[in-house]
Amino acid sequence: MKIYLIGYMGSGKSTIGRLLAEQMQLDYIDFDKNIEEEAGKTITQLFDEFGEDKFRQLEHEYLKRLLVKENIVISLGGGTPCFYNNIELINNSGTSIYLEMDVDSLAKRLSRAKNKRPLIRDLNDTELKYFIETNLEKRKAIYEQAKYTVQGKNFSSTYLTEAIIKLIK
Ligand code: S3P
Repeated sequence: MKIYLIGYMGSGKSTIGRLLAEQMQLDYIDFDKNIEEEAGKTITQLFDEFGEDKFRQLEHEYLKRLLVKENIVISLGGGTPCFYNNIELINNSGTSIYLEMDVDSLAKRLSRAKNKRPLIRDLNDTELKYFIETNLEKRKAIYEQAKYTVQGKNFSSTYLTEAIIKLIK
């Protein structure tokens, strides 16, 4: 059993991933944290020092390393499925779940949580909403390749975790 949570930044992948792993008695990996630990640098430092392309390459390498793990829930980074052939690697090695969230809710959440996210940290609220709209539009077709899609808006993390457990059983 291997579950991947995918979705935009701020969609709740880490919170729900942790709860899901707890409830299902599986191991848990927060992919961004895993990269930070392995690289000995924060995501922001990696973006600043090497640029986004190099970060995506690293992300791809670290994802490949996780493919062999079993009995685990992995919350991926928002961009992880969208580069290289990552979505195929994900879907061929586990059950993927897309946590779908609307632009307004994401903008509200991310406005308070921009600092550790290099793609959006310098944007004001208007720019942030526009960025999410256009970026999500580009990424949607990839996210929608997940095996299951769960609508996150207006639901608590506990409720969503239960809903996911029912879905995959
Ligand atoms: C990114 C999402 C972030 C992190 C990096 C890039 C993205 O992860 O990997 O800042 O491209 O959407 P979260 O979705 O956990 O914020």
